[in-house]
Amino acid sequence: MNMDQLKRQAAARALEEVRDGMQLGLGTGSTAKHFVELLGERVAAGLNVIGVPTSEATRADAERCGVPLTTLDEIDHLDITVDGADEIDPELNLIKGGGGALLREKIVAAASDRMIVIADDTKWVPTLGRFPLPVEVIPFGLGATRRGIEKAFAECGVSGQMAVRRAKDGHVFVTDGGHWIVDAQLGRIADPASLAKALSAIPGVVEHGLFIGLASSAVLAGGEGIRVIER
Ligand code: A5P
Repeated sequence: MNMDQLKRQAAARALEEVRDGMQLGLGTGSTAKHFVELLGERVAAGLNVIGVPTSEATRADAERCGVPLTTLDEIDHLDITVDGADEIDPELNLIKGGGGALLREKIVAAASDRMIVIADDTKWVPTLGRFPLPVEVIPFGLGATRRGIEKAFAECGVSGQMAVRRAKDGHVFVTDGGHWIVDAQLGRIADPASLAKALSAIPGVVEHGLFIGLASSAVLAGGEGIRVIER
């Protein structure tokens, strides 16, 4: 089974948790896209749900698949958010934001009763940090913000190269919120909760890709089958 089939399997398993009448957060990325497509098939067959997309890309996918959409201004909570991740540790802490949607992803996950993470099992790691940590920043005063980020890294015992993310065309990557992303190659994050707190305290940092205590369960698809890990 190839990687894409594993992602679809994980998405299909998460779909089993969806009930009629639910309000759903719809994640971003190649795995979440499978979920949106499968959800669209269920909607076409009569399932009544409504979704909040975590990016403009997911909004477009959901519209294409016929999934009805709303916003967090129109509803007061979400039952389940289903989203992918770049890394998942045994406490179900995550690195997210490889696709650049971390800000909306975190707002939507935090507004949800449950967050189900779906992934192929290569995303499962003993310790977060091999995947570059995305930090979403305001372009104004970036030099000062970068120095603040470096200080936070030093305080939390990590260090590594930082680079402003570029799009495929070479221009600076701009998020759906109009911000930039700095990716930090940290290697190993021993205390992700402390680092998350330190990064959130920096003026100029809009959000970061550490999702601490947000995921309720992870559905991991691998060669051996599907593993569901609950927190
Ligand atoms: C989007 O910003 C990310 O958080 C994605 O959820 C994450 O990068 C996983 O994407 P894939 O499912 O494409 O690996």
